[in-house]
Amino acid sequence: MCGIVGYVGAKDCSEVLVNALTKLEYRGYDSAGIAVFDDGEIRTVKTKGKLDDLRQKLKEVGKPSGHVGIGHTRWATHGEPSDINSHPHSGARVTIVHNGIIENYIELKEFLISKGRVFLSETDTEVVAQLLDYEYDGKPLETIDRVMAELKGSFALGIMFKDFPDRVFAVRRESPLIVGVAEGECFIASDVPAILQYTRDYYLLEHDEIATLTKDGVSFVDERLQPIEKELKTADWDMEAAEKGGYPHFMIKEIHEQPEAIRTTILPRIKDGLPCLDECGITLEELKEFKNITIVACGTAMHAGMVGKYVIEDLARVPVNVDIASEFRYRNPIVGRDDLVIIISQSGETADSLAALRLAKSKGATTLAIVNAKGSSIAREADMLIYTLAGPEIAVASTKAYITQLSVMYLFAFELALAKETLSVAECKRLISALQKMPDAVQYVIENCEEKCKYIATKLVSAESLLYIGRGLDYALSMEGSLKLKEVSYIHSESYAAGELKHGTISLINDEMPVISVATQTDVIPKTISNIVEVKSRGAEIILVCTDACARGLKDGIADYVVEIPHSEELLMPITAVVPLQILAYYTAINRGNDPDKPRNLAKSVTVE
Ligand code: G6P
Repeated sequence: MCGIVGYVGAKDCSEVLVNALTKLEYRGYDSAGIAVFDDGEIRTVKTKGKLDDLRQKLKEVGKPSGHVGIGHTRWATHGEPSDINSHPHSGARVTIVHNGIIENYIELKEFLISKGRVFLSETDTEVVAQLLDYEYDGKPLETIDRVMAELKGSFALGIMFKDFPDRVFAVRRESPLIVGVAEGECFIASDVPAILQYTRDYYLLEHDEIATLTKDGVSFVDERLQPIEKELKTADWDMEAAEKGGYPHFMIKEIHEQPEAIRTTILPRIKDGLPCLDECGITLEELKEFKNITIVACGTAMHAGMVGKYVIEDLARVPVNVDIASEFRYRNPIVGRDDLVIIISQSGETADSLAALRLAKSKGATTLAIVNAKGSSIAREADMLIYTLAGPEIAVASTKAYITQLSVMYLFAFELALAKETLSVAECKRLISALQKMPDAVQYVIENCEEKCKYIATKLVSAESLLYIGRGLDYALSMEGSLKLKEVSYIHSESYAAGELKHGTISLINDEMPVISVATQTDVIPKTISNIVEVKSRGAEIILVCTDACARGLKDGIADYVVEIPHSEELLMPITAVVPLQILAYYTAINRGNDPDKPRNLAKSVTVE
């Protein structure tokens, strides 16, 4: 995820900016740059690669000398990693750095081109720089305010106007930004670690607020340009904790980042209320031709594929086979010219998934990669590509990558169903609108269920074995819940189709085996409840994750613990229902004294067979 920094003060600005960017490296990036007022002119130095490459370039060209500037580490979204696409970006009188995605940048770019503007990069950021320059009337705050009204999407911006060499402006919508303050200097940063070496005092910029930084201090205005007072906060974290944004572990931080990850992933793929995967190389004409789909992946990514199967088959009526990559690659699988093979992978480097991709290609199938890591092998080799825009995932147990894989599966299923004409445009728009509400729904679940899950986790701490049950989408989702728990708590668990229990597995049930049941799909809830009663009567303690609607219909005593999540579009329920399962796994690991970020025997990216 991109990192933003900015500085106004008495120190060597280039030095401060690069130091601050170093503390944002953990966010992941592919290029870096700074822009500093040097003798009244804005001088920009930027490069593809790491901060060491930027340091080298600064040595070669001479570092800008001054006291006011902005800096950036870029994690490519629009346009490949390159010198030209790196930030800062400029218009004639404005230079900016940006984190986030401008949803309507194509329309804005077309407008600016019609006004004779010429663009150097492929980025949405340059569009904002040019728009600021186009709108500029000598009044920075008014200009920023007008431009903000035209922007759709998420952004945090650090802005410098050539006419105001003593100040930096900052603004945000959705993407985070803080303003640090100390005696005689001010900072902006995407995250607290960037400024901790200089100050612990900072303000949190809220949506659509604009900050003006000078060496004498910072002032804030709201979107109506009315001055506002803000509460000064003091960071009490050490550097390591700060990189985790104050969370004790990356896993829980990444669980909390899921609303933003979904938003970032779906926003650029929705146009006029419909899915739009053109930029990924996917056209409706091509999609129409596929007769079968095979989804191949490992671990969590494979579980995202399981949800994908239910959704694609339901909406697009195309048969979907989900395969484990290490099985697929050694089985002489039946795929060919009429087939689409989808490879899902967070890292894009998993050896078995990569081999499966190559095998599918060699058999003439068309391949689509759904990948998080930019420029990874799977991303490069697949015929078509959709990036999940989850940002870097550091905890070994995948959470935000999974939820963005689900989000992409939905977008893809909607697009395919439109191509196959099994879904009307009106119905698709309704589903898209429901999908757009999921970031808020996930936020709600995190805020309202974490304490409950934390408590329930205390009850699981001494379990030796656990069963997850569900039907349909709830079963597909339970597979991921079970894997999460296994990975970080080291408690054995299985996910079982609830209706299949009585064909053998129910013999395992006794009062020492808790059962976690997921019930979000109205049509099968009565059946799942019957299965719950069956295991309950054999002594199992029941933890039920269900919709509030389902909870209202429950008879007392059926479940020992109930985690209620809000009812939303049923097809989309896995997006919210997975969250309590992730949180349960996390706190169970904590209660057992495990480090959830580095589970024993596991690797984040398995690049060997
Ligand atoms: C490893 C990780 C899992 C991950 C799987 C697939 O086993 O520990 O969390 O789900 O690899 O990884 P990928 O990068 O291909 O999604």
